[in-house]
Amino acid sequence: RKNIVVAIDGYSSCGKSTLAKALAKKLGFIYIDSGAMYRAVTLYFIRNEVDITNEADVKDALQHIELNFHSRDYESHILLNGEEVFEEIRQMPVSESVSEVSAHKMVRHDMVKQQQRMGKSKNIVMDGRDIGTAVFEDAQVKFFMTADPKIRAERRFNELVSKGDTVTTLEEVFENLAHRDYADTTRVESPLTRAEDAIILDNTELTEQEQLNFALERVEPFL
Ligand code: C5P
Repeated sequence: RKNIVVAIDGYSSCGKSTLAKALAKKLGFIYIDSGAMYRAVTLYFIRNEVDITNEADVKDALQHIELNFHSRDYESHILLNGEEVFEEIRQMPVSESVSEVSAHKMVRHDMVKQQQRMGKSKNIVMDGRDIGTAVFEDAQVKFFMTADPKIRAERRFNELVSKGDTVTTLEEVFENLAHRDYADTTRVESPLTRAEDAIILDNTELTEQEQLNFALERVEPFL
């Protein structure tokens, strides 16, 4: 491929999007948050009480969902049928259902097709769970991120608190991350796993700048 694709996969709340955004900004690439797509679909399913066990319902729902991104400071804001849902998709109801929805074959098929279209001709950084293994197997650079589960829960909890969440506990966040990691790694359709050619990045003890430098060094040969 002529355009450069940087694929970042890994467990929940490992700082994938933080690194992806910083990298995209530094390189002038487009940042695409694939998790936001699964989250927006989940929000639509919750709002419209879509029965995930009913194939016809799921198919019909997917036909009524249009996702778009508008980039603001590399934040990758997602629009669900024209509505800004950036804040709502990060809240607990969506986090609690997203792994079930994203395990659905039809949902994945639809999202992957859209993601591949977005990476066809532009230089991009995309983060998710299956970017290096399924969406862009031919990505020039692949990272697989991981970090201590306790640290991950604390980071995500602090993020929720800073956004005004006063009801969710640290324990609930920890449980949710563990649940999603389990569901994401054990599902049948493109489970979360490290691509053979992915570079492992454990950021438990790394600053954001150190992670960015680490990643930049690996991408630079392809520029
Ligand atoms: O990245 P984020 O935590 O926002 O993703 C939310 C959920 O979406 C993940 O727990 C996973 O179930 C699903 N996901 C996925 N494949 C991707 C990105 C996200 O299945 N490429």
